[in-house]
Amino acid sequence: MFAITGATGRLGRLTIDALLERTTPDQIVALARDPDRADDLAARGVAVRRFDYDEPADLADALSGVDRLLLISSDDLARRIEQHRAVIDAAVAAEVGFIAYTSVLRADRNPLGVAPSHQATEAMLAESVLPHAALRNGWYIENYLIGVDAAMAHGVLLGSTGDGRISGAARADYAEAAATVLVAGPEAAGVHELAGDTAFTLSDVAAALSEASGNPVIYRDLPEADYARALEAGGMPAPVAAMLAGFSAGAAGGILEDSSGALGRLLGRPTVSLRDVVRNALAKDRF
Ligand SMILES: NC(=O)c1ccc[n+]([C@@H]2O[C@H](COP(=O)([O-])OP(=O)(O)OC[C@H]3O[C@@H](n4cnc5c(N)ncnc54)[C@H](OP(=O)(O)O)[C@@H]3O)[C@@H](O)[C@H]2O)c1
Repeated sequence: MFAITGATGRLGRLTIDALLERTTPDQIVALARDPDRADDLAARGVAVRRFDYDEPADLADALSGVDRLLLISSDDLARRIEQHRAVIDAAVAAEVGFIAYTSVLRADRNPLGVAPSHQATEAMLAESVLPHAALRNGWYIENYLIGVDAAMAHGVLLGSTGDGRISGAARADYAEAAATVLVAGPEAAGVHELAGDTAFTLSDVAAALSEASGNPVIYRDLPEADYARALEAGGMPAPVAAMLAGFSAGAAGGILEDSSGALGRLLGRPTVSLRDVVRNALAKDRF
């Protein structure tokens, strides 16, 4: 039996889509903080169980009968080490046979603010008795579609990444890789550095937006503090704006560039390109 945490999130739903192409619904458990938001998954025949990282006492029971677990990293950066600790302890108690965890590209030496909690989680997994895989996901291409309607309205995409290259991949590609690793189980244990086949700069993102929309968009590089102020001026809460500007500046040094091709090999096909992700998002008016 496969189980997916964060099943009502975007990566979780896409991973369940990919698992449904590989196994039957009765083999899948959607673990959801709020099961009421998983009615669509239940309608597809998937079992839904309540699973809140902040309620450690209930987690082991929810993992009853689960052999292979995908732990999707929490989006609560301040609390996720203890949240992940609770999930790993519960997985050990429930005798889960294999756990895959969504980490970050080059977690062991990544200077971005998201990395320390991923390092800590990978260390907890290494200390546990569980066979495990670290899915070190690079950036989602979709990250660059946040606020893109403003970029298209003004013809200017802002950022602090300079000429830094990013091997982003579509969220759905990371989800398919996660499903593939879950199905492979312990034989896929280890570290997987996962990233898109083709690295791009933010100028390339602007060019993809121009091409897909038919309206010119250029990339304007800003110092980190100025970019944070611009995000704030656009309505983003100050701490979120500072964090995103920090990620943008942090990527300038190339830490999110990768040429291993490991994601494409797991998928058995080329990863979906920046141009296709942008074109599809614009066609569906979905950013
Ligand atoms: N590689 C990248 O570029 C990138 C970008 C952004 C985030 N991430 C990381 O990747 C993860 C998955 O990405 P995503 O796009 O799927 O994010 P998402 O759509 O925000 O999903 C996050 C999931 O975590 C669940 N969650 C949060 N707190 C929880 C708790 N206390 N107990 C149980 N579940 C909890 C959420 O539950 P609800 O559905 O109930 O809200 C949601 O399902 C994120 O959480 C973050 O750690 C990676």
